[in-house]
Amino acid sequence: MYNRTEIKEVLSGSMVGKEVTVCGWVRAFRSNRFIALYDGSSFNTLQIVIDFEQLDPAILKKISFHACICAKGVLTASQGSGQDYEIITNDITILGESNPEKYPLQPKAQTMEFLRENAHFRMRTNTFSSVFRIRHGIAFAVHKFFNDKGYYYQHSPIITASDAEGAGEMFKVTTLDLENPPRTEDGAVDYKKDFFGGPANLTVSGQLQAEIGALALGKVYTFGPTFRAENSNTTRHLAEFWMIEPEVAFFDIVDDMNLAEEFCQYLIKYVLDNFAEDVAFLDQRIQNLEKNMPANDRRPMGLLETLKFVVDNKFERITYSEAVHILRNSKPFKKGQFEFEPSWGKDLQAEHERFLVEKHFKKPVIVRNYPKAIKAFYMRLNEPGEHEQGETVAAMDVLFPGIGEVIGGSQREERYEELLKRVHEMNIPEEELWWYLELRKFGGAPHAGFGLGFERMVQFITGMGNIRDVIPFPRASGSAEF
Ligand code: 4AD
Ligand code: MG
Repeated sequence: MYNRTEIKEVLSGSMVGKEVTVCGWVRAFRSNRFIALYDGSSFNTLQIVIDFEQLDPAILKKISFHACICAKGVLTASQGSGQDYEIITNDITILGESNPEKYPLQPKAQTMEFLRENAHFRMRTNTFSSVFRIRHGIAFAVHKFFNDKGYYYQHSPIITASDAEGAGEMFKVTTLDLENPPRTEDGAVDYKKDFFGGPANLTVSGQLQAEIGALALGKVYTFGPTFRAENSNTTRHLAEFWMIEPEVAFFDIVDDMNLAEEFCQYLIKYVLDNFAEDVAFLDQRIQNLEKNMPANDRRPMGLLETLKFVVDNKFERITYSEAVHILRNSKPFKKGQFEFEPSWGKDLQAEHERFLVEKHFKKPVIVRNYPKAIKAFYMRLNEPGEHEQGETVAAMDVLFPGIGEVIGGSQREERYEELLKRVHEMNIPEEELWWYLELRKFGGAPHAGFGLGFERMVQFITGMGNIRDVIPFPRASGSAEF
């Protein structure tokens, strides 16, 4: 209808001397003359130069921060510094006014908290438009990576009856009247009368269903929303986040680690190759933020440098037992600086992971062979020779600087008897997992997979401090607005 040209195309330079119409939002308006116009197609804005003395004052008044306008004029090579091209015109149409006295955002730096409360406008800012362009790029690269390798994208169900992680952090899905639910004779809620004929919840992981796919199609991956009702109010946790879960037949834990490492490096490289302007902007943004911080609080490396480093260097690989050994011999442990004591059998805490990655190895680390007691029921019990100080499973976590765990994965227990034993040991109702167990009885095969927390990867690549700022509409305990 408007026959407009996108700013990205205008800035490519092929249209000099031609008349173009551009539409977008005003990023900045200075000296009543220079508009920086933004339409999302490019990191860069297009300069529109107007002659305010000739422009209808009623229109001039409406050119304000984040107002939506169209400008029509001839594209020329710019005389000024700072941009290559501009449009000099007084042919301006106001599509959407934005009264600067009432508009919640101001043309200045705003706090992240404030922008989160204004999530309906925050994508118009430099920072968030870069973050969300990159988020798109990573999502696209996920599909490209797996498609190029012959994996099949499998949609995992969002509503399920099983607790894939056995951690009990599920959101219930029900149509029962919570005020007055139907009851069984002994007074319990009668879920047989519920919509699905039994209890149901939002999925915490698509893994169990991906295993079905892997044992039929060989190589599959899921990429979908997952939900966890964990009450952790941290900068790394969301109640609704996206997970990518490849699952591969005839794969062991080493194949799994290799795939995880290659996948991480591929995603980062894809963004460096295709979103360089956005990355450069976010890199600069962090440098500006850190200018006034004490040296200790600053990143050891800039964003761009970190990303290149991760792409170019092999990840460190250690066992859980080695990790505990390193931690117990570390300076912070000896000086009593850890809040939690690292000891064999206990899960690694965020502070331990950060020490290993940021201080000790100074690179991403893959930790494998965790004690079986702290891991999920489906992980393969290691052979006796591989148990270092106690029984371990073929699990692996990929730990990233500043982020901690970005991937969790494992080789799956393919031996029916072993799996059944584990299900019983962990008091998981066997009947809930009948189909999962049957996969081991009929045509079972060794297989492995992992889950990448999509937002944690977006956080790492964009350098954003809070995971709530890399998903358009974050859901965390106490907040589901927008
Ligand atoms: O380690 P997790 O719990 O592993 C699984 O769910 C397995 N079923 C994956 C598999 O083997 N197919 O979760 C995987 C990843 C974590 O490493 C983390 O990056 C991310 O998901 N994650 C979260 N991201 C944001 N908010 C949360 N609350 C998250 N919980 C886990
Ligand atoms: Mg995990």
